[in-house]
Amino acid sequence: MRTIAIVNQKGGCGKTTTCVNLGGALAADGARVLVIDLDPQAHSTLALGIDPEELDENLYEVLAEPDGAAQLERVVVGILEGLDLGPSSIVLSALEQKLAGERHDARTERLSMALRGLSVNYDYALIDCPPNVGLLTFNALRAAQEVIIPLETSFFAIDGVQKLLETIGLLSERIGHDLTVRILPTLYDGRTRFARETLGEIRELFGDMCFDSVIRQNVKLREAARKGVPINRYAASANGTRDYAALALELAASAPELVTHDDVAPEDPSRPESREVVVRFRDAGAGEVRIAGDFNGWVPDKGVRSLIESEGQSRVWTKVLRLSPGTYEYRYVVDGEWCSDPENPQSVPGPAGATNSVLVVR
Ligand SMILES: Nc1ncnc2c1ncn2[C@@H]1O[C@H](COP(=O)(O)OP(=O)(O)OP(=O)(O)O)[C@@H](O)[C@H]1O
Ligand SMILES: [Mg+2]
Repeated sequence: MRTIAIVNQKGGCGKTTTCVNLGGALAADGARVLVIDLDPQAHSTLALGIDPEELDENLYEVLAEPDGAAQLERVVVGILEGLDLGPSSIVLSALEQKLAGERHDARTERLSMALRGLSVNYDYALIDCPPNVGLLTFNALRAAQEVIIPLETSFFAIDGVQKLLETIGLLSERIGHDLTVRILPTLYDGRTRFARETLGEIRELFGDMCFDSVIRQNVKLREAARKGVPINRYAASANGTRDYAALALELAASAPELVTHDDVAPEDPSRPESREVVVRFRDAGAGEVRIAGDFNGWVPDKGVRSLIESEGQSRVWTKVLRLSPGTYEYRYVVDGEWCSDPENPQSVPGPAGATNSVLVVR
């Protein structure tokens, strides 16, 4: 089963729309899909035609008690052929408080354990997350191997995305499993120059990390949500149906290999010409320095070896990257703040007024 968390702390960027309609599109292609609604707003639940008030049980039963994992199959509701739902309810918003006294690990692995215990063979679990990075989103990220970040092309929230990538990077280090992160441009209106330029910037910044598929603005998506069905059941030839069908195909064609941090070998046999490249960052006052660039999908320190030394008054962070010949853009993350490399005069303008440093490997 591929477990995919749909995450962005920014509200209204298309998480729920993607969860429900990607689910519908995958199911139409013959996959068995479980939509997990982890948002107390219960928008995925409503958009799949279920009134949370009318259910006796929901994911709260699964997540609130240590032995709740076994309850998942009981609370799952069948929606359509190939599409099931783990429903949400407003009570999920009480979970954080309820679990406040428990260890971080115990609180955040509840969903992961529940999904591992499933006896039904789903091909995909798609997890709709709330617009914040709290306990529920951590549960989703721990359970997932993949992350989709919907990114609105009408408003470029790049700084927010970089913060999110940082959080995902830290978390995947902590839990010892890599997350394959992809960006999905949403709410695209190709008639406006602003949206076209923003899409260009997203592609430039995130490169291969970005899906080829783009979700266009389409009012039928709103209407389908109101009707409580995935769009392919409501308007078969609408742009929204086509876009999510294309995304489903692209996703199905790109199953990631599962790697743990122990497996991330510096040698990549498919790239025999890659070599170690060293960059350094000096700062007396910094507590933590990480590096992110197009070589590691902009996930800070992913696949990077670090060394910290003292040099006089300064602390020096040495970052060892394994790169093939080519040109790379990168930035440092110094105590959570993104900045270009002050010792590297080579730079290019990045999106949203930022500057990316440039590294050329010959
Ligand atoms: N491609 C689209 N075209 C038109 N409307 C869309 C599109 N995607 C989403 N919407 C609409 O925009 C609104 C926000 O979308 P959605 O609920 O999917 O965002 P979200 O990220 O889940 O929001 P939240 O953070 O509140 O959970 C909804 O009314 C939805 O119907
Ligand atoms: Mg939502």
